[in-house]
Amino acid sequence: MKYKFSKYVFVAPLAIALGCGGSKNTTPAKAVVTTEKNAIDRKADSVLALMTLEEKVGQMNQYNGFWEVTGPVPKDGSAAIKYEHLKKGWVGSMLNVRGVKDVKALQKIAVEQSRLHIPVIFGFDVIHGYKTVSPIPLAEAASWDLEAIQKSAEIAAAEAAASGLNWTFAPMVDVSRDARWGRVMEGAGEDPFLNSRIAEARVHGFQGNLGPLSVAACVKHFAGYAFAESGRDYNTVDISDNTLHNIILPPFKAASDAGALTFMNSFNELEGIPATGNAYLQRDILKGKWNFKGFVVSDWGSMGEMISHGYAKDLKDAAMKAANAGSDMDMESSGYVEHLAALVREGKVSEEKVNDAVRRILRVKFMLGLFDDPYKYCNEAREKETIGKKEFREGVLDMAKKSIVLLKNDKNLLPLAKQGKKIALIGALANDKTSPLGSWRIGADDGTAVSVLEGMQQYKGNQLVYAKGADVALGNPVFVSETKINTTDKSGFAEAVKAAKAADVVVMVLGEHGLQTGEGRSRSDLGLPGVQQELLETVFKANPNVVLVLNNGRPLALPWAAENIPAIVEAWQLGTEAGNAVAQVLYGDYNPSGKLPMSFPRNVGQVPIYYNHKTTGRPGNGQPTESVFWSHYTDVANSPQYAFGYGLSYTTFDYSNFKISNTSFGKNGSITVTVDVKNTGKVAGKEVVQLYLHDHYASVTRPVRELKGFEAVTLAPGETKTVTFAINEKLIEFYSAKKVFEAEPGTFTVYVGGDSNATLHADFTFTE
Ligand code: NOJ
Repeated sequence: MKYKFSKYVFVAPLAIALGCGGSKNTTPAKAVVTTEKNAIDRKADSVLALMTLEEKVGQMNQYNGFWEVTGPVPKDGSAAIKYEHLKKGWVGSMLNVRGVKDVKALQKIAVEQSRLHIPVIFGFDVIHGYKTVSPIPLAEAASWDLEAIQKSAEIAAAEAAASGLNWTFAPMVDVSRDARWGRVMEGAGEDPFLNSRIAEARVHGFQGNLGPLSVAACVKHFAGYAFAESGRDYNTVDISDNTLHNIILPPFKAASDAGALTFMNSFNELEGIPATGNAYLQRDILKGKWNFKGFVVSDWGSMGEMISHGYAKDLKDAAMKAANAGSDMDMESSGYVEHLAALVREGKVSEEKVNDAVRRILRVKFMLGLFDDPYKYCNEAREKETIGKKEFREGVLDMAKKSIVLLKNDKNLLPLAKQGKKIALIGALANDKTSPLGSWRIGADDGTAVSVLEGMQQYKGNQLVYAKGADVALGNPVFVSETKINTTDKSGFAEAVKAAKAADVVVMVLGEHGLQTGEGRSRSDLGLPGVQQELLETVFKANPNVVLVLNNGRPLALPWAAENIPAIVEAWQLGTEAGNAVAQVLYGDYNPSGKLPMSFPRNVGQVPIYYNHKTTGRPGNGQPTESVFWSHYTDVANSPQYAFGYGLSYTTFDYSNFKISNTSFGKNGSITVTVDVKNTGKVAGKEVVQLYLHDHYASVTRPVRELKGFEAVTLAPGETKTVTFAINEKLIEFYSAKKVFEAEPGTFTVYVGGDSNATLHADFTFTE
């Protein structure tokens, strides 16, 4: 039966005329948001006018999937309560229900049994792919390829939407400086500029034009979550307003400007106020200054957690504080559904605040086309033909290759020759079909990634011998701590040594299991887990021609490997096509071009380490004769092992002819910087040319340098291209002592090069 909204069917033709039903997935969502604002508002208001207070509060309530929908209807306990709430229209959204059959069954209850037939929005963590998995987001960021990243989000959205979902809890845009924090794998690393551009690409990729193969994005975690003290997940955050505005917020602003439909707040506190109850973040900045029109969902149970934080007396108090602060939807605390109507009646929360939240939620549902057709995402045939499409596999393979970073390649050990060699492949991760899927890929099935072993077996000209060496075994990844899961078993060492001795080249795949990063997986040590370091050193003694392929979801500190191992390839957790991507890079069928989106420390004591740090009052002069009284360590250099923006290629690039068009500009003016980049090697390659600025003095202290532009150039051997960057007032703006974004007159240095240590430079001034 074709669904009809008898009560407000009048809005449907209008919605269709405006394109809410969705068509080809090409226009960025932003355009939809702008042109439809008024019409959508009118539609949302027309529904709002029909709602009781309880029904309004119900829209602000999100439940986790509570019921095996093909089984009997729940009769007791919390599942029965949730079921009753669904029938009453007291559930605005559900998470973790997926698959057309289940989504449809639950949607049917909401739209056919509730009084107002308001459809439910179905959310899920589609972080880097649904069934066909892309590299973890940190790895994708290493590509610096916005087009590829957008495409990857489109693939994820298409599979998720085909599976009945219409909302992903992504992108995570938390600028992350602390590799101990397990969730660095979910974001785009340490730089606000790179994070911002990637945030835009991901929002556009997920949302497309909101057609049936797109989903609403949810920008998270608003805000400051990555700054958890000592990298321990959920820990206290204590940061300055300066850091908040100059470092943390820019990617959120960029995502909001790109048209993201929803935001998620975060578990942490800011200035002593948990984000869920934080009006400065949600009301003043997001909905105020930025004029964000979508809605904010809490993080899982974060409303209730305000009690543990010591910020709320009980759940009712927490609900009051969250609602008043502008947190629109409650994920799994039941704070709103249990207390918000009473709080309104008692005058503790104004009905206007509730109306505002509900209007925002209804708007998103209208924009997604759910009022036109609540089953828009529920097409079994489409589900079948979309999930796992060949072109999606090709897309994630392309993304995976672009995400790989070549960290070291002494004596050109790589690429490997394709014929007549004996290769020893060592490491449990080389033969793992689950770990490459990484963390946060709950829609995908275990064992569905191509392993490195399988990838390398495609190259039949060499003799390949595999030896496990040592396990990186995981028990239950959620309940067993890492100390228990790391094996101490060295019984496989002898076989690995034997294989290494007989080989021309040894490829060792070592690192973290895909589930050793992600939420709740903070580490205090950034070395290779378990006995892998010992395995590496033992094998190296047997045969020093080692190529180390790293699998990890965070920067690792591997000083011994950096010094001794001749070739190191950063291969992260690369998703479904991981093994093919790694093999194609090792054999030179793809020339690596990735650049690190996070600094790799020399040891864990340097963390947090990031390139865009402040100079301090005692920056030192770098001379060996210097006294100890400057900002440094006595036992390790200040510099990272591998810098932000760093990455090698199988070819080499030469930068020359660096020019600046003028040495000063004023308001509304600009200058250009040009540089010639030449491929001086023997194979074609891609170089990501980066531009950094340093502001010498200002009303507040500024970083030593900040990324402000990048462009990839692909060059044939011997070819030269000129890269041009424009520098204008916008680019030098920052959150100043006046607490506004502005460009202050002063002196700047511009640097251009292939990483954050770029040396070509020139000074310029900005005049009033
Ligand atoms: C908690 C995580 O912090 C958040 O990122 C995620 O989207 C929700 N759980 C829902 O799974």
